[in-house]
Amino acid sequence: MKFFIDTANIEQIKEAQALGVLDGVTTNPSLMAKEGIKGQDNILNHYKNICEIVDGDVSAEVMSLDFEGMVKEGEVLAALHPQITVKVPITIEGIKAIKYFSSKNIKTNCTLVFSPGQALLAAKAGATYVSPFVGRLDDVSSDGVELVYKIAELYKTYGYKTQVLAASIRHTQHIIQCTDAGADVITAPLSAIIGLVKHPLTTNGLAQFIKDYENSQK
Ligand code: G3P
Repeated sequence: MKFFIDTANIEQIKEAQALGVLDGVTTNPSLMAKEGIKGQDNILNHYKNICEIVDGDVSAEVMSLDFEGMVKEGEVLAALHPQITVKVPITIEGIKAIKYFSSKNIKTNCTLVFSPGQALLAAKAGATYVSPFVGRLDDVSSDGVELVYKIAELYKTYGYKTQVLAASIRHTQHIIQCTDAGADVITAPLSAIIGLVKHPLTTNGLAQFIKDYENSQK
């Protein structure tokens, strides 16, 4: 089970890396904009900076909608750093681009996936990762976790090597549910990852141990 952090915030990436359990980073254009990263040169530099902080794969998204544009952008992104994974939307042009990148051994993350059929095409094209958006399905009264389960089962049945990267994770319970559903990777905000460590019985138990230890020292 791999843990990615879903942010372009350098401080949060450093904090997650310092935990020692971080396997990668996912970003998207909205997350980059949230950090105020503007202009193509700054965007590319930001990706490089992220790669220097973490050890694992870093998803960087193409903005073109056509195959040629995606290939051009993806090649620039992939040349930035060996850890870059080119994030490509699940469209007809995106499928062609994923197939192309796969033939060039360039890692891909197929994004904006909302159905098993989309995930099937992504795997057939040779995507490294497929990103079902769990929270966004929940937002429209669908079951995001169920989609993760269906994709994981489908890949197991047919032996696809594409890793199921559960994205749009909104809270700690989503992480546990996606783990149960067979996700290979979860990408989550730092708050959801940190939430895994929290339990009132741990807090209370630790407080009691400290109190008893201190009393034993008097
Ligand atoms: O990795 C995709 C993710 O960033 C989308 O999350 O919360 O905007 O649905 P959200």
